[in-house]
Order: sequence, then C-alpha cells, then structure tokens
Amino acid sequence: MSVAAESTTMTFPLRPYKSLENEELTARIQKIRDAMGKRLLILGHHYQQDEVIALSDLRGDSYRLSALAAANRDCQAIVFCGVHFMAETADILANRPERVAERGGVRIPVILPDLAAGCSMADMAELEQVEDCWQQLGEVIDVADVMPVTYVNSSAQLKAFCGRHGGIVCTSANAAAVLQWAFARRSRVLFFPDQHLGRNTALRMGVALEQMPVWDPKAPELGGNSPEAIRSSRVVLWKGHCSVHQMFLPAHVDQFREKYPDIKILVHPECMKEVVDKADAVGSTGAIIRMVEEAPPGTRWAIGTELHLVNRLKREHPEQEIHFLSPIVCMCATMYRIDLAHLCWALENLAAGTPVNVIEVDAETAAYALEALQRMLEVK
Ligand code: 13P
Ligand code: SF4
Repeated sequence: MSVAAESTTMTFPLRPYKSLENEELTARIQKIRDAMGKRLLILGHHYQQDEVIALSDLRGDSYRLSALAAANRDCQAIVFCGVHFMAETADILANRPERVAERGGVRIPVILPDLAAGCSMADMAELEQVEDCWQQLGEVIDVADVMPVTYVNSSAQLKAFCGRHGGIVCTSANAAAVLQWAFARRSRVLFFPDQHLGRNTALRMGVALEQMPVWDPKAPELGGNSPEAIRSSRVVLWKGHCSVHQMFLPAHVDQFREKYPDIKILVHPECMKEVVDKADAVGSTGAIIRMVEEAPPGTRWAIGTELHLVNRLKREHPEQEIHFLSPIVCMCATMYRIDLAHLCWALENLAAGTPVNVIEVDAETAAYALEALQRMLEVK
C-alpha cells in the first residue's frame, strides 16, 4: 500500500458500528444511497458477502469493474467493495487526467471500506524484485524483446513498471487476448505475479511447458534458472499464487468424477495446471457465472473458485446442482473484511464530507499505470 496516500480520518470511530445489527446497518447504508443517488457508485466484486453485494450498484469481475470505473461519468464518489489493487485501479481510471479535466479539475474519491482488504497474491511481487528480475534478465537476453505483463492483481507500482516498459495489464477475463497482443509485438513475456494464470493461458496458446521457467524472486541468481533456460524461454513466470485457489487439488476433481460421472468441473484460471487440465471449463468469475446461467436446468457442477461466489450461485440457481470443488472452506479472508459495518462507516463519513480510506495513487505512478491499463482496455 506504499504508493497510496490514504486519508484515514476517523470522524466516526468504527467500533460502534461493529455492535449494530445488519438490519440497522443496511437501513443506514440505504439512506445514504437514496440521498446521494447517482453521485455515489458502489462497486462489488463477485467474492463479496451477499449483504454487501445486495447494496452494490454494480457487481462484476475485475475486468468489468475496471471498465465500469473507466466509463462512469455521473458519480462523484466510488466505494469499492473489493480489495486494494481494485480500488487503486479504479482511482487511476476514474481520475485519469481527461476525466479530471472534464470535471473542472475535481478528483473523485475512491474509497476502500477496510484498508486491510489486500490481496496476498499481489503482495508476492514487489517493485524492487521485479526491477531486479528485469535487470538480471537483461544480462542474459535482450529485454527490449520482452513484454512485461502484469495480472491486475498487483500494486499500481507494478502496473506503472509495465507502462514504462511498453507493457500491459491483464485480468483473468482477457489473459489470452493480452498474451496474443504481447506476442504480436515481442518474442517473450515476463508474466507476474500469478504463475498459474500465466501458465494455464500460455499452454492453451501452444507455448510448451519447457519454455516457461519459473522466476523465484528469493533465489540468489536468475530466479533459480540457468542462463540457457532463460534464453530458451517464451514466458518467464513469476513465482506467485493465490492462497485461496491453490486449495483446489486434482484429487478433488477425481473424487467428484467418481461419484458423479456426468459432472461438469468449472474452475478459475488461478487454479494449478493439474486442476485446470482435469476441468471441463476454465474462466474468470464473470465467465463462471455466465456458464452457469446459460446451462440447462439439471446441470451438475463442481466449481473451483471462492466460496462466497459458489454459494451465491447455488442460491441463485436452484434449478441446477452446484457443488463446491474442495472439501475445505476456501474463502478470500481479505475480501471478507469488507462488511456492512465498514461500508456504513465509510459511507456515513463520505456523506458528512469527511471521507475515510481514500485510495489515491500518486500522479507519476498513476500516469504510467494508466498507459498499461489503457492498452488492456483497448485489447479486444
Ligand atoms: P476475476 O478477475 O475473475 O474477478 O478474479 C479476481 C480475483 O482476485 C480472483 O482471485
Ligand atoms: Fe487475491 Fe486470491 Fe483473494 Fe483473489 S482470491 S483477491 S487472488 S487472495
């Protein structure tokens, strides 16, 4: 969170909100939504709790939420019910120079109701580590021919790194299109921070596993690779992962297939290759929802992504039989930090003119990160 200048004025201390019942919190949040109307935009990621999703104006996967933040012209404040990198991305897009100029120089606050809502995967790649990797790669190969691609689950600083080096951002919804864009311009890709999304996507595009060395930022030299492995690489994969999606295992797929031979296994591309290989379909959270919505009644699924989304799909699609792929609870503890108490506290402070938890990316970082994000939004 080092690049964000965050206002944390506690005009209303949070503690009293924690003791309120959900009904009261919901009523108070709704009152502010009614009073602010279109001036307030509450965005909710699919992994949020149901009570929070119910109070969001728009819900989506990280690609859709970025696009919505980029497109909205009505709102005067965004409250992001998601995690820190998503709020940073919304700030960069909603407060890009042309939009600020349209508003006569006014920035809009982008608020993350709980600053502790981070992403452990995003924390697995730091700017200094990526710069060190870039420099070491440059001692073995020509980095002018390497395209840096960062998954949107990364700090604004890493998006800015990509912007500075002609690179691009991807989400799980457009990773294949982004890699195609990258390979149309350069022979190699450095993909961070999620090795699984990078590997799963590149494999499906025909890149061989042997051409995808894993870069361990903790290794003393060349990320733990030989110079030859780097020279023969096409995609250098950062050694990062999602602690939620790594809980889904190939054995879970086998168990479901044995019990229900007709079952469809549907997983997020942050799952390991061995799980994705055994699945019937792979997709972003938005794509997972679409596939379920479009399936005929009576379809039987086992879904490998965050628990709140799978439970919501179960409730919203009683005509289908939906199972959670893992026997263990896999939930994103940081997404879960956004609750009604934090949302109410953040909104009442906003309405009182004393916004809290404002995520503001510094101007230089935002300018370079915007370049990489705009390239992403232009890739079809
Ligand atoms: P989506 O891009 O599919 O919304 O996923 C974001 C995420 O954090 C998944 O773990
Ligand atoms: Fe990050 Fe994983 Fe949570 Fe997504 S589910 S926000 S990748 S920790």
